Amino acid sequence: MQITVTHPPYNYRVVRQFTLMTIVWGVIGMCTGVLIAAQLVWPELNFDTPWLSFGRLRPLHTSLVIFGFAGSAQFAASYYAVQRTCQARLFSDRLTAFTFWGWQLTILIMLITLPMGMTTTKEYAEIEFTGAVWMAIVWVAYGIVFFTTLTRRKTRHIYVGNWFFGAFILVIAMLHVINHLSVPVGWFKSYSLYAGATDAMVQWWYGHNAVGFFLTTGFLGMMYYFVPKQVDRPVYSYRLSIVHFWALIALYIWAGPHHLHYTALPDWAQSLGMVMSLILLAPSWGGMINGMMTLSGAWHRLRSDPILRFLVVSLAFYGMSTFEGPMMAIKTVNALSHYTDWTIGHVHAGALGWVAMITFGSLYHLIPKVFGREQMHSIGLINAHFWLATIGTVLYIASMWVNGITQGLMWRAVNEDGTLTYSFVEALEASHIGYVVRLAGGLCFLSGMLLMALNTWMTLRGTSPVAQRKAVPA
Ligand code: HEM
Ligand code: HEM
Repeated sequence: MQITVTHPPYNYRVVRQFTLMTIVWGVIGMCTGVLIAAQLVWPELNFDTPWLSFGRLRPLHTSLVIFGFAGSAQFAASYYAVQRTCQARLFSDRLTAFTFWGWQLTILIMLITLPMGMTTTKEYAEIEFTGAVWMAIVWVAYGIVFFTTLTRRKTRHIYVGNWFFGAFILVIAMLHVINHLSVPVGWFKSYSLYAGATDAMVQWWYGHNAVGFFLTTGFLGMMYYFVPKQVDRPVYSYRLSIVHFWALIALYIWAGPHHLHYTALPDWAQSLGMVMSLILLAPSWGGMINGMMTLSGAWHRLRSDPILRFLVVSLAFYGMSTFEGPMMAIKTVNALSHYTDWTIGHVHAGALGWVAMITFGSLYHLIPKVFGREQMHSIGLINAHFWLATIGTVLYIASMWVNGITQGLMWRAVNEDGTLTYSFVEALEASHIGYVVRLAGGLCFLSGMLLMALNTWMTLRGTSPVAQRKAVPA
């Protein structure tokens, strides 16, 4: 059926671009994840080649999935939601296009320089000087586009999802600039302005809030937009969402020292980080409950709607990882979990279960709308993706829990004469089976991601676009 497409006054072009790149970086970043997971099973998979070594590919994996996949997803979702909730087109088509191309160039810089071994050595902030400056410029442009669009809104108040997106943009700018302050000695070599324990403190203030704002706050903005939309009901409690916002923002920023327990950091700072992390459970669960309860009276839809299932299961994993995190922040628990695979399990409960799943649900909702299609090409493929992602996540985190606790207990076991019961290699041997199971989980998760790419491709090349929905948003 041939139908004419009337273009809405919104800028959907950039949303489409970021959506497609979310999928592209998701596939590449997760392939890298699977490769390094395989290297931990068969170390010879580095083929004695420096740029294929675990030490270089690991930061490449984290950078691609965090900035390429999760970053592009948040650009797409925030640009989509801010236009529809403000009933205003994004400010400046040119600047908006600059944020797209600029961000892709940033990821490309990471893709080239990290395997070459150029790195600041600061986790999640590895990109070297010139790249970091470029990234800051693009981010400022993003802030200008987002906040100027907000000021042009035709609605009286600012929808809560936009508060979360706004905080994500502002805080990431602050963290990135402060943590990257350094003295350059070349285009791609610099030395941090901080030293010793101060450097570690600044780095983990950054690192923890990268989790809190890059992998949580923007995604909560997504939750507040896409969950009510998909379920077709208003958010459960608007008042709770405001309390959720301010409590989360006020608390996250203090919790960084839980990454530095039992180090040279002053003891009081470690304890402060622990206490703030424990309190953080309350707003995290408040937000999760607000999202879940939005389904009140519509739970039956979970049986037939795989998109909603993605969104709800992501909230369940969010609840799980934000319960686990505060527990791991308790110093005595951290004495067991730190340096072990338990941390890796916790990371991926958040990264796969929460970040990736809410992205999948939101994108499946958004793709037909911004590409002018009735719906995704195949609901069956979305269903298959859902199960592969869920099984993959469970295999990943369960194997890492077993490995983590095994490692923690073996490392601390001592004989009566005070010598260690187990050598490091014995603990490594005991972990081998866990690494195999994690690899299987990673492969499941990646297969799901490939199905999403296929489904999107089929959706785009399928039937001709239906008439775009009317310009006025819901
Ligand atoms: C197919 C999916 C994935 C696989 C197989 C995978 C695998 C891995 C592996 C093997 C590591 C290194 C673990 C170690 O050093 O012992 C790792 C680290 C990491 N991955 Fe993934 N990953 C996947 C997806 C993701 C996604 C989607 C994200 C984020 C959105 C993510 C974020 C991270 C982070 C932050 C780390 C560093 C953890 C730390 O330093 O504690 N991963 N991943
Ligand atoms: C209330 C919420 C949370 C708290 C209090 C928390 C706490 C913690 C703690 C104590 C660690 C271990 C630090 C160590 O021993 O080195 C950790 C590691 C980590 N968490 Fe969480 N977590 C929370 C939620 C999340 C979520 C939702 C995600 C992902 C989306 C996440 C991602 C990470 C990452 C990436 C690391 C590894 C950092 C590294 O060492 O490279 N966390 N978290």
